[in-house]
Amino acid sequence: IAFTVENKHGERKEIEIPDDMGLSLMEALKASEYNILATCGGMALCATCHVQVLQGFDNLPAIGDAEYDMLDTLPDLTPESRLACQLKISEELNGAVFRLMDESD
Ligand code: FES
Repeated sequence: IAFTVENKHGERKEIEIPDDMGLSLMEALKASEYNILATCGGMALCATCHVQVLQGFDNLPAIGDAEYDMLDTLPDLTPESRLACQLKISEELNGAVFRLMDESD
């Protein structure tokens, strides 16, 4: 699976990751050395894994209740917002472009 990540400086990089490892997008981003805190460990409770889907939003699996409730609290919510921890690496992510909304230094 290959997708593109845009960091907070607007720099884009393509990431390739096998889809048979059961990783979430959040875990894949951390493994690719992006600084996202993921304080809650992927429970849809912290929103530090917030991404804006610049391309491919409509292909992604539907937003779950917990994810929706968390997204709804975000001041910087966009119509294409998702929580990276709630997205499994799968075919649906192929070709997508994700902007990191809460990358730390
Ligand atoms: Fe906390 Fe995704 S890691 S909401």
